[in-house]
Amino acid sequence: MQKLFQAAITGIAHYLPEDRLTNADLEKMVDTSDEWITSRTGIKERRILGKGLGTSYMGTKALETLLQKKGLDAKEIDLIVVATITPDMLFPATACLIQNQIGATNAWAFDLSAACSGFLYALIVGAQFIETGAHKKVIVIGADKMSSIMDYTNRDTCVLFGDGAGVVLLEPAEEGMGLQDFVLHADGSGVEHLRQPGGGSLHPSTHETIDQKLHFIHQDGREVFKFAVPRMAEVSAQILERNGLTGQDIALFVPHQANKRIIDACIKRTDLPPDRVVINIDRYANTSAGTIPIGLSEAVDHGRVKRGDKVLLASAGAGYTWGSALLTWAY
Ligand code: ACO
Repeated sequence: MQKLFQAAITGIAHYLPEDRLTNADLEKMVDTSDEWITSRTGIKERRILGKGLGTSYMGTKALETLLQKKGLDAKEIDLIVVATITPDMLFPATACLIQNQIGATNAWAFDLSAACSGFLYALIVGAQFIETGAHKKVIVIGADKMSSIMDYTNRDTCVLFGDGAGVVLLEPAEEGMGLQDFVLHADGSGVEHLRQPGGGSLHPSTHETIDQKLHFIHQDGREVFKFAVPRMAEVSAQILERNGLTGQDIALFVPHQANKRIIDACIKRTDLPPDRVVINIDRYANTSAGTIPIGLSEAVDHGRVKRGDKVLLASAGAGYTWGSALLTWAY
């Protein structure tokens, strides 16, 4: 594909709610144990956003930090893309709510739904507007309030998820910098194993759908696990191979944080040195579209990546959706 410009991440920030829900807290709520959760998932605690606040709150907080870090005025933003499966409401888009809350009066804004691969999908969509020259400043947010669709009486799911948001700024960059390549996939047959069935046009909310708990996440964890492990490892290996790289060439790998065992399988398949892999699932659990930008933002804050470094991102989640992206870090 002919690109007029290179799209690069030139700024990053994240927001996590203060409140923590620990494994010890969950032991008091459902029939589970710290030992089971830690050994099966790697999770120790997760952050929970309070009642009365939605995903737009976390997205706006993260974006405020980004604008402060960069010394940018919200009016300079051309486009805001928000990846989320837990929008404040079905419409208007959470991106429009954030656009209003931040005062980005010159930006257009829309949401994108790709669950745990949402940030990767939105990153690639946002990059197109930089690469064609249509825009100079694109904001991509991955944010989810997973606690809002959690059944805290169901141990199969409630131990796995948390709340959080991450944001990046995309701008044109010099040749060789920024987004190098991506692999994205979808397989809608995954609806059988992972979905929020109620509240949409198929099952609009009624007393019956609430009684049947259709407004909560429904997951067959074992099936999703069997799907996610090979897919995430495959796309991570594929993007390296077709760019003539090995895991040893990657300075930082930011995998989606759904299960430490899925991440370990990716590390094994790509021969990546484990100290170059971002793992924060122990502290935040699965924040869906939030995991990759939060992990990348923390890594940048800790000086784990420098200009010219190769960065690999990979995810798998509901849809099914899955993919990877290869970046050359631009700042
Ligand atoms: N505490 C204690 N026991 C539990 C718990 C719990 N919280 N949850 C399940 N169990 C039990 C099960 O009931 C089962 O008992 P049984 O053998 O008597 O039937 C046993 O533990 C084993 O259950 P499995 O489902 O086989 O456990 P598994 O090792 O597969 O781990 C898990 C479950 C953690 C859900 C794993 O399958 C997983 O991580 N799946 C992938 C999740 C994922 O990637 N989701 C995608 C992203 S989400 C998105 O896109 C929105």
